[in-house]
Amino acid sequence: MTARIIDGKAVAQKLRAEWKQRVDALRARGITPGLVVVLVGDNPASAVYVRNKAAACAEVGLSSSVRRLPADCSEASLFACLTELNRDPRIHGIIVQLPLPPHLDAARALQALAVEKDVDGFHWCNLGALVEDRPRFVPCTPLGVMHLLGHEGIAVEGRTAVVVGRSSIVGKPQALLLIARSATVTVCHSRTPDLGRFTRDADILVVAAGRPGLVTGEMIKAGAAVIDVGINRLPDGKLAGDVEFESARRRAGHITPVPGGVGPMTVAMLIANTVTAAERGAAG
Ligand code: GUN
Repeated sequence: MTARIIDGKAVAQKLRAEWKQRVDALRARGITPGLVVVLVGDNPASAVYVRNKAAACAEVGLSSSVRRLPADCSEASLFACLTELNRDPRIHGIIVQLPLPPHLDAARALQALAVEKDVDGFHWCNLGALVEDRPRFVPCTPLGVMHLLGHEGIAVEGRTAVVVGRSSIVGKPQALLLIARSATVTVCHSRTPDLGRFTRDADILVVAAGRPGLVTGEMIKAGAAVIDVGINRLPDGKLAGDVEFESARRRAGHITPVPGGVGPMTVAMLIANTVTAAERGAAG
């Protein structure tokens, strides 16, 4: 078997075209959805992500800007910046680009965001709403994965799903979204012994561990949908996922590449959440 390769870039492009109509409708009412990315310090990977986000916003007609703060900025000045953005009616979505420099507590910063502008869905109120099956803003990467599964016609209900990774921004919300769609979900992580014992059972395997090549072909059930969330920079400068692509594609039914799989969907979902925030704001 050779897997069908899921083209996340093309799916994201199609979704952006659809959402442009929602943006046009808002703009006709004098509302331009606005996103601000708060970028602290000069992490080179963050700079690339932020550029991608700005380009996608421009394509769809959103206004976006980057609020840069120095790497040694105090928590007080970060909070002052967030408070100012929370109060600005022209801004519908705010994200704090992660990681923050080590002297800043990311969880505390995220709780300082206005819940209705938290388009990353990382505020505890938004994560709690997801736990309660009443989602408001859902974290962009796991939401993008669900859209990819839907787009490919991959059934979720009643199937066995394994999520590798337990972060609050991908693994945990991913598991919740799959449970909400009636999959039977197992969450594995870096301390799971004999990972293959679990992954070989998965009809849907989502890998978000941040370890290049962690999952190999022989750890995959024949015909499974394999979604690779990992983006790892190798010593030779190339990007690689958490799944060993060549061996995995010979076992899987569907597989996402890196780059060009989940990454573009994360950006697309950020746009969707920002448009939704602006629509909710307009509805009063
Ligand atoms: N850093 C890596 N991915 C993300 C993301 O989805 N949102 C934010 N805010 N920071 C990130």
